[in-house]
Amino acid sequence: MSVERWAPDSWRAKPIEQVPDYPDAVVLDEVERQLAGFPPLVFAGEARKLKKYLAKVAQGEAFLLQGGDCAESFDEHAADNIRDFFRVFLQMAVVMTFAAASPVVKVGRIAGQFAKPRSAPNEKIGDVELPSYRGDIVNDIAFDEAARIPDPRRQLMAYRQSAATLNLLRAFASGGYANLENAHRWMLGFIKDTPQSARYSELADRLTETIGFMRAIGLDPETHQELRQTEFYTSHEALLLGYEQALTRVDSTTGDYYATSGHMIWVGDRTRDPGHAHIEYARGVKNPIGLKCGPSMKPDDLLRLADILDPANEAGRLTLICRFGTDKVAEHLVPLVRAIKKEGRTVVWSCDPMHGNTVKAGSGFKTRPFDRIMGEIRSFFAVHQAEGTYAGGVHLEMTGKNVTECTGGARAITEADLHDRYHTHCDPRLNAEQSIEVAFLVAELLKAERIARGKPEVDAAE
Ligand code: PEP
Ligand code: CO
Repeated sequence: MSVERWAPDSWRAKPIEQVPDYPDAVVLDEVERQLAGFPPLVFAGEARKLKKYLAKVAQGEAFLLQGGDCAESFDEHAADNIRDFFRVFLQMAVVMTFAAASPVVKVGRIAGQFAKPRSAPNEKIGDVELPSYRGDIVNDIAFDEAARIPDPRRQLMAYRQSAATLNLLRAFASGGYANLENAHRWMLGFIKDTPQSARYSELADRLTETIGFMRAIGLDPETHQELRQTEFYTSHEALLLGYEQALTRVDSTTGDYYATSGHMIWVGDRTRDPGHAHIEYARGVKNPIGLKCGPSMKPDDLLRLADILDPANEAGRLTLICRFGTDKVAEHLVPLVRAIKKEGRTVVWSCDPMHGNTVKAGSGFKTRPFDRIMGEIRSFFAVHQAEGTYAGGVHLEMTGKNVTECTGGARAITEADLHDRYHTHCDPRLNAEQSIEVAFLVAELLKAERIARGKPEVDAAE
């Protein structure tokens, strides 16, 4: 098979979907030129390290937790937002690490998750039809003619917001906030006195005891970096390829190209045609790559995409993010798992239980019933257990805020509650409490899975 030459701009010669209709090509060129001169947001060495951790996931030795907003927004860029997201994320990771005795690889949908694919190019409200909102990096969500015109200058704002967000995340991850001795303090005020908080506090008590024990036998947490800080990585959908190209850089130590807009990038379910632009871009950068797999993905398509994106079958390179809908998992996942296994491919299998479970509530709000989210995760684990493969991760749309966007959960959010705090710029997210509930479910399933694989050391964490 001859492989065509790749360059950061070779995607431009391919058919492409989901492109904003920029009215002014001169401004667009100028913005891309400026971005190309800006510092990288992440470093190649970090992306390589993440790939190494994902290789562990692919081999069944760690678990991937990936999550964040469906779409980040320019409006919601307060430090509180980032902190609340980060602390829920840490809580979830602690639940999974401690309850299931599994290392957790932490990857946020953050610091770059701005561009959105849409099912229709236009949106109609009453008699008015306007271009669809494509994420803050492209246009404004307000249903207003001027606001919906794609403006390339928004890419500069997205870049700067990503840089500031990353800066804070790096400080949180290494500056003491993520110290495991703070596990009790990560509990958010508004979820105190709830069933999830009681479960979490109990676990944090056990963690405190464990650290106390370690201290008592002479292992000082101060000298153990793993206890004091965490490694947190960023990811987003590489949809706006002009922006991605501008941030594609050659790594001076290896001579390879890396996307420096985030550590991991993924290709969405609507833009994964093997001959098209998004796959062309992704195949040439060395970052870990995610590939969304929805119900229309056939085993042959998947194998072809895997050949293109991961020709060397390198563990950690390819994460298959499956999003079928709770009723469709068995039907669609089984053939894909078998095909990948038969080819001897090593991939990370991750479950996105969000995008196949979106429904429209009577009130008009897009929502996702919590039971269906939990159901898809359960079925995903069951399929892997039956097929002898490893359920390696979850991919969630979530926030640290007390929103009412997904129905159900321990606090039983109803359709009538949705209007209360429905703040998402795109798809409905799990709120903090629902996120922790998901983490406990995953921990339970992971633990059962490890016991089934005959790794009895999980019992030691009880
Ligand atoms: C998303 O992750 O927000 C998204 C658009 O997903 P998908 O490509 O799976 O529809
Ligand atoms: Co989404």
